[in-house]
Amino acid sequence: MKTHKSVLRRAGFAVAGLSLIANAPGTLSQSQVLVKASAEKSIFGKMEDGTVIKLFTLKNTKGTTATIVEYGATLQGLWVPDKTGKFTDVVLGYDGLEGYLGPHPYFGGTIGRVANRIAKGKFILDGKEFSMALNNSPNSLHGGKDGFNRKVWKGEIVKRPHAVSVRLTYISPDGEEGFPGTLKATVTYTLTDENELKLDYAASSDKATPVNLTNHSYFNLAGNGGILDHSLYLNANKYTPVDSTLIPTGEIAKVKGTPFDFTQATSIGERISQLTGDPGGYDHNLVLNGWNGKLKLAAQLSDPASGRQMEMWTTEPGVQFYSGNFLDGTIKGKQGAVYQKHAALCLEAQHFPDSVNHTNFPTTILRPGSIYRQETVYKFLVN
Ligand code: GLA
Repeated sequence: MKTHKSVLRRAGFAVAGLSLIANAPGTLSQSQVLVKASAEKSIFGKMEDGTVIKLFTLKNTKGTTATIVEYGATLQGLWVPDKTGKFTDVVLGYDGLEGYLGPHPYFGGTIGRVANRIAKGKFILDGKEFSMALNNSPNSLHGGKDGFNRKVWKGEIVKRPHAVSVRLTYISPDGEEGFPGTLKATVTYTLTDENELKLDYAASSDKATPVNLTNHSYFNLAGNGGILDHSLYLNANKYTPVDSTLIPTGEIAKVKGTPFDFTQATSIGERISQLTGDPGGYDHNLVLNGWNGKLKLAAQLSDPASGRQMEMWTTEPGVQFYSGNFLDGTIKGKQGAVYQKHAALCLEAQHFPDSVNHTNFPTTILRPGSIYRQETVYKFLVN
Protein backbone atom coordinates (compact mmCIF):
# COMPACT_ATOMS: atom_id res chain seq x y z
CA MET A 1 0.00 0.00 0.00
CA LYS A 2 1.32 3.42 -0.92
CA THR A 3 1.34 5.83 1.98
CA HIS A 4 0.35 9.44 1.53
CA LYS A 5 3.92 10.27 2.56
CA SER A 6 5.42 8.25 -0.27
CA VAL A 7 3.02 9.83 -2.74
CA LEU A 8 3.99 13.26 -1.46
CA ARG A 9 7.66 12.38 -1.75
CA ARG A 10 7.19 11.18 -5.31
CA ALA A 11 5.43 14.43 -6.14
CA GLY A 12 8.46 16.22 -4.74
CA PHE A 13 7.08 17.39 -1.40
CA ALA A 14 9.26 18.41 1.49
CA VAL A 15 7.80 16.34 4.31
CA ALA A 16 10.68 16.41 6.78
CA GLY A 17 9.43 16.45 10.35
CA LEU A 18 5.93 15.34 9.46
CA SER A 19 4.71 11.99 10.54
CA LEU A 20 1.73 11.14 8.40
CA ILE A 21 0.24 7.69 8.65
CA ALA A 22 -2.03 6.47 5.90
CA ASN A 23 -5.37 4.94 6.86
CA ALA A 24 -6.80 3.67 3.60
CA PRO A 25 -5.01 4.41 0.31
CA GLY A 26 -5.24 8.10 -0.44
CA THR A 27 -6.74 9.12 2.91
CA LEU A 28 -5.39 10.72 6.07
CA SER A 29 -6.95 11.41 9.41
CA GLN A 30 -7.28 15.09 10.35
CA SER A 31 -5.95 14.46 13.85
CA GLN A 32 -2.68 13.21 12.35
CA VAL A 33 -1.91 16.49 10.58
CA LEU A 34 0.25 19.24 12.03
CA VAL A 35 -1.45 22.59 12.45
CA LYS A 36 1.04 24.95 10.87
CA ALA A 37 0.32 26.69 7.59
CA SER A 38 3.11 26.40 5.06
CA ALA A 39 4.08 27.18 1.47
CA GLU A 40 6.92 25.18 -0.01
CA LYS A 41 8.45 24.67 -3.40
CA SER A 42 10.10 21.61 -4.85
CA ILE A 43 11.01 20.22 -8.24
CA PHE A 44 8.19 18.56 -10.17
CA GLY A 45 10.13 17.75 -13.32
CA LYS A 46 12.10 19.11 -16.24
CA MET A 47 11.10 20.18 -19.73
CA GLU A 48 12.97 18.69 -22.68
CA ASP A 49 15.13 21.85 -22.88
CA GLY A 50 16.10 21.46 -19.22
CA THR A 51 13.74 24.09 -17.81
CA VAL A 52 12.94 23.12 -14.24
CA ILE A 53 9.22 22.94 -13.41
CA LYS A 54 8.45 23.66 -9.79
CA LEU A 55 5.64 22.34 -7.66
CA PHE A 56 4.24 24.54 -4.89
CA THR A 57 2.60 23.00 -1.87
CA LEU A 58 0.21 25.16 0.09
CA LYS A 59 -1.03 23.80 3.38
CA ASN A 60 -3.36 25.57 5.82
CA THR A 61 -3.72 25.16 9.57
CA LYS A 62 -6.56 22.66 9.06
CA GLY A 63 -4.29 20.37 7.05
CA THR A 64 -5.98 21.10 3.70
CA THR A 65 -3.34 20.97 1.00
CA ALA A 66 -3.18 22.27 -2.56
CA THR A 67 -0.37 21.48 -4.98
CA ILE A 68 0.24 23.75 -7.95
CA VAL A 69 2.58 23.12 -10.86
CA GLU A 70 4.28 25.82 -12.94
CA TYR A 71 3.53 23.98 -16.19
CA GLY A 72 0.09 25.25 -17.15
CA ALA A 73 -0.27 26.99 -13.73
CA THR A 74 -2.00 23.71 -12.96
CA LEU A 75 -3.84 22.69 -9.80
CA GLN A 76 -2.31 19.22 -9.44
CA GLY A 77 -3.77 18.05 -6.13
CA LEU A 78 -6.27 19.21 -3.52
CA TRP A 79 -6.59 17.28 -0.26
CA VAL A 80 -9.71 18.18 1.72
CA PRO A 81 -11.36 16.52 4.75
CA ASP A 82 -14.63 14.58 4.78
CA LYS A 83 -17.17 14.56 7.62
CA THR A 84 -14.96 12.23 9.68
CA GLY A 85 -11.83 14.30 9.10
CA LYS A 86 -10.31 12.03 6.45
CA PHE A 87 -8.40 13.83 3.71
CA THR A 88 -8.75 12.82 0.07
CA ASP A 89 -7.49 14.32 -3.16
CA VAL A 90 -10.60 15.70 -4.90
CA VAL A 91 -9.11 16.67 -8.30
CA LEU A 92 -8.02 14.53 -11.25
CA GLY A 93 -4.54 14.77 -12.73
CA TYR A 94 -1.15 13.10 -12.88
CA ASP A 95 1.58 12.27 -10.38
CA GLY A 96 4.36 13.54 -12.64
CA LEU A 97 5.13 16.14 -15.31
CA GLU A 98 5.13 13.55 -18.15
CA GLY A 99 1.37 13.13 -17.79
CA TYR A 100 0.77 16.84 -18.21
CA LEU A 101 3.13 17.05 -21.20
CA GLY A 102 1.15 14.37 -23.04
CA PRO A 103 -2.34 14.76 -24.51
CA HIS A 104 -4.99 15.18 -21.82
CA PRO A 105 -8.28 17.03 -21.37
CA TYR A 106 -6.93 20.11 -19.54
CA PHE A 107 -6.66 18.52 -16.06
CA GLY A 108 -6.44 21.36 -13.52
CA GLY A 109 -4.90 23.77 -16.01
CA THR A 110 -5.19 27.53 -16.31
CA ILE A 111 -7.01 28.09 -19.58
CA GLY A 112 -6.29 31.06 -21.85
CA ARG A 113 -5.91 33.31 -23.67
CA VAL A 114 -9.58 32.55 -24.41
CA ALA A 115 -11.32 29.73 -22.57
CA ASN A 116 -14.05 27.70 -24.29
CA ARG A 117 -14.92 27.79 -27.99
CA ILE A 118 -14.51 30.38 -30.74
CA ALA A 119 -16.70 29.51 -33.73
CA LYS A 120 -14.60 28.34 -36.68
CA GLY A 121 -11.58 29.86 -34.90
CA LYS A 122 -12.34 33.32 -36.29
CA PHE A 123 -13.30 36.73 -34.95
CA ILE A 124 -13.19 40.33 -36.09
CA LEU A 125 -11.76 42.96 -33.75
CA ASP A 126 -11.64 46.66 -34.68
CA GLY A 127 -12.24 45.71 -38.33
CA LYS A 128 -9.43 43.16 -38.53
CA GLU A 129 -9.97 39.41 -38.83
CA PHE A 130 -8.02 37.02 -36.60
CA SER A 131 -7.90 33.25 -36.93
CA MET A 132 -6.76 30.43 -34.74
CA ALA A 133 -6.06 26.72 -35.00
CA LEU A 134 -9.23 24.58 -35.24
CA ASN A 135 -8.15 22.24 -32.45
CA ASN A 136 -11.76 21.21 -31.75
CA SER A 137 -12.99 20.89 -35.29
CA PRO A 138 -14.74 22.92 -36.65
CA ASN A 139 -13.93 25.34 -33.80
CA SER A 140 -11.06 26.60 -31.69
CA LEU A 141 -11.09 25.49 -28.04
CA HIS A 142 -9.40 26.73 -24.86
CA GLY A 143 -6.86 29.11 -26.40
CA GLY A 144 -5.88 27.06 -29.46
CA LYS A 145 -3.35 24.31 -30.05
CA ASP A 146 -1.05 25.18 -27.16
CA GLY A 147 -3.09 27.29 -24.77
CA PHE A 148 -1.95 28.69 -21.42
CA ASN A 149 -2.33 25.22 -19.87
CA ARG A 150 0.65 24.14 -22.01
CA LYS A 151 2.93 27.06 -21.13
CA VAL A 152 5.65 27.31 -18.52
CA TRP A 153 4.54 29.85 -15.92
CA LYS A 154 6.89 31.32 -13.32
CA GLY A 155 5.78 30.81 -9.76
CA GLU A 156 6.67 32.61 -6.54
CA ILE A 157 5.43 32.19 -2.99
CA VAL A 158 3.60 35.23 -1.63
CA LYS A 159 3.16 35.82 2.09
CA ARG A 160 -0.37 36.70 3.25
CA PRO A 161 -1.94 36.93 6.71
CA HIS A 162 -3.96 33.76 7.56
CA ALA A 163 -3.30 32.32 4.13
CA VAL A 164 -0.60 30.85 1.93
CA SER A 165 -0.23 31.86 -1.73
CA VAL A 166 1.62 31.24 -4.93
CA ARG A 167 1.56 33.73 -7.81
CA LEU A 168 2.26 32.46 -11.32
CA THR A 169 3.09 34.69 -14.27
CA TYR A 170 3.10 34.06 -18.00
CA ILE A 171 3.83 36.51 -20.80
CA SER A 172 2.03 35.53 -23.98
CA PRO A 173 3.78 37.02 -27.03
CA ASP A 174 2.00 39.15 -29.64
CA GLY A 175 0.45 36.80 -32.23
CA GLU A 176 0.64 33.68 -30.09
CA GLU A 177 -2.08 31.25 -31.22
CA GLY A 178 -3.29 34.04 -33.52
CA PHE A 179 -4.18 36.53 -30.75
CA PRO A 180 -3.14 40.21 -30.96
CA GLY A 181 -0.93 41.88 -28.36
CA THR A 182 1.60 40.87 -25.75
CA LEU A 183 -0.47 39.75 -22.79
CA LYS A 184 0.94 39.58 -19.28
CA ALA A 185 -1.14 37.21 -17.20
CA THR A 186 -0.95 36.25 -13.55
CA VAL A 187 -2.92 33.79 -11.49
CA THR A 188 -2.55 33.68 -7.73
CA TYR A 189 -3.68 30.63 -5.82
CA THR A 190 -4.38 31.36 -2.15
CA LEU A 191 -5.34 28.76 0.43
CA THR A 192 -7.02 30.29 3.48
CA ASP A 193 -7.56 28.82 6.91
CA GLU A 194 -11.28 28.78 6.07
CA ASN A 195 -10.61 25.97 3.56
CA GLU A 196 -11.03 28.31 0.59
CA LEU A 197 -8.88 28.00 -2.49
CA LYS A 198 -8.96 31.42 -4.14
CA LEU A 199 -7.87 32.04 -7.70
CA ASP A 200 -7.12 35.67 -8.51
CA TYR A 201 -6.39 36.43 -12.13
CA ALA A 202 -5.03 39.64 -13.67
CA ALA A 203 -3.95 40.45 -17.22
CA SER A 204 -2.89 43.44 -19.28
CA SER A 205 -2.10 43.82 -22.97
CA ASP A 206 -0.39 46.31 -25.29
CA LYS A 207 -3.04 45.75 -28.02
CA ALA A 208 -6.78 45.09 -27.87
CA THR A 209 -7.34 41.35 -27.45
CA PRO A 210 -10.01 38.98 -26.19
CA VAL A 211 -9.24 37.49 -22.77
CA ASN A 212 -11.25 34.84 -20.96
CA LEU A 213 -9.31 32.92 -18.34
CA THR A 214 -10.51 29.97 -16.30
CA ASN A 215 -9.36 26.96 -14.35
CA HIS A 216 -10.16 23.50 -15.67
CA SER A 217 -10.08 21.39 -12.51
CA TYR A 218 -11.99 18.12 -12.56
CA PHE A 219 -13.62 17.63 -9.15
CA ASN A 220 -14.82 14.44 -7.54
CA LEU A 221 -15.64 15.08 -3.89
CA ALA A 222 -15.52 11.35 -3.10
CA GLY A 223 -12.00 11.12 -4.52
CA ASN A 224 -12.95 8.18 -6.77
CA GLY A 225 -15.91 6.56 -8.54
CA GLY A 226 -18.27 8.82 -10.49
CA ILE A 227 -20.02 12.13 -9.89
CA LEU A 228 -23.57 11.17 -10.92
CA ASP A 229 -24.56 10.92 -7.22
CA HIS A 230 -23.14 14.36 -6.42
CA SER A 231 -25.81 16.96 -5.85
CA LEU A 232 -25.51 20.34 -7.55
CA TYR A 233 -27.06 23.75 -7.03
CA LEU A 234 -26.41 26.45 -9.64
CA ASN A 235 -27.32 30.08 -9.05
CA ALA A 236 -28.49 30.40 -12.66
CA ASN A 237 -32.00 30.89 -14.04
CA LYS A 238 -30.69 31.02 -17.61
CA TYR A 239 -28.20 29.33 -19.92
CA THR A 240 -26.79 29.71 -23.40
CA PRO A 241 -28.18 26.99 -25.72
CA VAL A 242 -25.64 25.59 -28.20
CA ASP A 243 -25.58 24.07 -31.68
CA SER A 244 -24.27 20.58 -32.40
CA THR A 245 -20.66 21.86 -32.26
CA LEU A 246 -21.24 23.42 -28.80
CA ILE A 247 -21.25 27.00 -30.10
CA PRO A 248 -23.94 29.21 -28.49
CA THR A 249 -26.84 30.04 -30.77
CA GLY A 250 -26.87 33.52 -29.19
CA GLU A 251 -30.10 32.92 -27.33
CA ILE A 252 -30.22 33.35 -23.54
CA ALA A 253 -32.84 30.81 -22.51
CA LYS A 254 -34.60 30.00 -19.24
CA VAL A 255 -33.52 26.79 -17.50
CA LYS A 256 -37.02 26.21 -16.08
CA GLY A 257 -38.41 22.92 -17.35
CA THR A 258 -35.03 21.81 -18.79
CA PRO A 259 -32.33 19.45 -17.41
CA PHE A 260 -30.24 22.63 -16.83
CA ASP A 261 -32.42 23.73 -13.95
CA PHE A 262 -30.23 23.33 -10.85
CA THR A 263 -31.86 26.21 -8.99
CA GLN A 264 -32.86 23.52 -6.46
CA ALA A 265 -30.01 21.17 -5.56
CA THR A 266 -30.46 18.08 -7.76
CA SER A 267 -28.40 14.97 -8.28
CA ILE A 268 -26.37 15.20 -11.47
CA GLY A 269 -27.43 11.75 -12.65
CA GLU A 270 -31.13 12.49 -12.33
CA ARG A 271 -31.69 14.06 -15.75
CA ILE A 272 -28.35 13.53 -17.50
CA SER A 273 -29.79 10.85 -19.82
CA GLN A 274 -32.03 13.53 -21.36
CA LEU A 275 -28.87 15.09 -22.79
CA THR A 276 -28.38 12.65 -25.61
CA GLY A 277 -25.87 12.73 -28.43
CA ASP A 278 -22.26 11.74 -28.61
CA PRO A 279 -20.94 11.85 -25.88
CA GLY A 280 -24.07 13.45 -24.31
CA GLY A 281 -24.16 14.91 -20.82
CA TYR A 282 -23.67 18.41 -19.50
CA ASP A 283 -21.26 20.70 -21.34
CA HIS A 284 -23.08 24.01 -21.13
CA ASN A 285 -22.63 27.57 -20.01
CA LEU A 286 -25.00 28.72 -17.29
CA VAL A 287 -25.74 32.42 -16.98
CA LEU A 288 -25.23 33.40 -13.36
CA ASN A 289 -27.97 35.47 -11.72
CA GLY A 290 -27.41 39.16 -11.07
CA TRP A 291 -23.89 39.47 -12.47
CA ASN A 292 -22.24 42.76 -11.51
CA GLY A 293 -18.56 41.82 -11.41
CA LYS A 294 -18.64 41.26 -7.63
CA LEU A 295 -17.95 37.93 -5.97
CA LYS A 296 -21.19 35.89 -5.88
CA LEU A 297 -22.16 32.33 -5.10
CA ALA A 298 -22.28 30.41 -8.39
CA ALA A 299 -22.57 26.76 -7.36
CA GLN A 300 -22.77 24.33 -4.47
CA LEU A 301 -21.67 20.76 -5.00
CA SER A 302 -22.02 17.99 -2.45
CA ASP A 303 -21.19 14.35 -2.14
CA PRO A 304 -23.74 12.81 0.26
CA ALA A 305 -21.55 9.80 1.10
CA SER A 306 -18.42 11.63 2.28
CA GLY A 307 -20.24 14.77 3.43
CA ARG A 308 -17.79 16.92 1.44
CA GLN A 309 -19.25 20.08 0.00
CA MET A 310 -17.79 22.66 -2.31
CA GLU A 311 -19.08 26.16 -2.87
CA MET A 312 -17.93 28.06 -5.90
CA TRP A 313 -17.93 31.85 -5.85
CA THR A 314 -16.94 34.00 -8.78
CA THR A 315 -16.86 37.51 -10.24
CA GLU A 316 -17.54 36.03 -13.72
CA PRO A 317 -20.92 36.13 -15.51
CA GLY A 318 -20.97 32.43 -16.47
CA VAL A 319 -19.94 28.94 -15.51
CA GLN A 320 -19.34 26.02 -17.85
CA PHE A 321 -20.76 22.92 -16.23
CA TYR A 322 -18.99 19.97 -17.85
CA SER A 323 -19.80 16.47 -16.56
CA GLY A 324 -16.66 14.72 -17.81
CA ASN A 325 -18.44 13.31 -20.86
CA PHE A 326 -15.31 12.78 -22.94
CA LEU A 327 -13.52 10.75 -20.25
CA ASP A 328 -13.68 7.17 -21.47
CA GLY A 329 -11.42 5.03 -19.33
CA THR A 330 -8.37 5.44 -21.57
CA ILE A 331 -6.53 7.81 -19.21
CA LYS A 332 -4.55 6.55 -16.25
CA GLY A 333 -4.07 9.33 -13.75
CA LYS A 334 -2.77 9.72 -10.22
CA GLN A 335 -1.85 6.47 -8.48
CA GLY A 336 -2.95 4.55 -11.57
CA ALA A 337 -6.60 5.67 -11.28
CA VAL A 338 -8.58 5.02 -14.48
CA TYR A 339 -10.83 7.94 -15.34
CA GLN A 340 -14.14 6.66 -16.67
CA LYS A 341 -16.94 8.73 -18.19
CA HIS A 342 -18.36 11.10 -15.51
CA ALA A 343 -15.43 10.35 -13.15
CA ALA A 344 -15.37 14.05 -12.30
CA LEU A 345 -16.93 17.36 -13.26
CA CYS A 346 -15.70 20.85 -14.06
CA LEU A 347 -17.21 24.15 -13.00
CA GLU A 348 -15.34 26.66 -15.15
CA ALA A 349 -15.90 30.31 -14.21
CA GLN A 350 -15.90 32.27 -17.44
CA HIS A 351 -17.34 34.79 -19.85
CA PHE A 352 -19.73 33.04 -22.23
CA PRO A 353 -18.34 30.78 -24.99
CA ASP A 354 -17.67 32.49 -28.32
CA SER A 355 -18.29 35.92 -26.77
CA VAL A 356 -16.08 37.50 -29.46
CA ASN A 357 -18.77 36.64 -32.02
CA HIS A 358 -21.85 37.62 -29.98
CA THR A 359 -22.46 41.31 -29.37
CA ASN A 360 -25.27 40.53 -26.90
CA PHE A 361 -22.85 38.71 -24.54
CA PRO A 362 -20.69 40.59 -21.97
CA THR A 363 -17.52 41.61 -23.80
CA THR A 364 -14.23 39.77 -23.44
CA ILE A 365 -12.17 42.50 -25.12
CA LEU A 366 -9.31 43.88 -23.04
CA ARG A 367 -7.85 47.18 -24.24
CA PRO A 368 -4.41 48.63 -23.48
CA GLY A 369 -4.47 50.60 -20.23
CA SER A 370 -7.19 48.42 -18.69
CA ILE A 371 -6.67 45.45 -16.43
CA TYR A 372 -8.54 42.17 -16.71
CA ARG A 373 -9.40 40.79 -13.29
CA GLN A 374 -11.21 37.72 -12.08
CA GLU A 375 -11.65 36.16 -8.67
CA THR A 376 -13.00 32.65 -8.22
CA VAL A 377 -13.17 30.81 -4.90
CA TYR A 378 -13.66 27.11 -4.25
CA LYS A 379 -14.63 26.71 -0.60
CA PHE A 380 -14.74 23.32 1.10
CA LEU A 381 -17.12 22.38 3.89
CA VAL A 382 -18.62 19.24 5.41
CA ASN A 383 -22.11 18.35 6.52
C1 GLA B 1 -14.31 21.93 -21.90
C2 GLA B 1 -15.24 21.76 -23.02
C3 GLA B 1 -15.58 20.33 -23.19
C4 GLA B 1 -14.35 19.49 -23.31
C5 GLA B 1 -13.49 19.71 -22.12
C6 GLA B 1 -12.20 18.95 -22.26
O1 GLA B 1 -14.91 21.96 -20.69
O2 GLA B 1 -16.40 22.55 -22.88
O3 GLA B 1 -16.37 20.18 -24.36
O4 GLA B 1 -13.66 19.83 -24.46
O5 GLA B 1 -13.21 21.06 -21.97
O6 GLA B 1 -12.38 17.63 -22.66
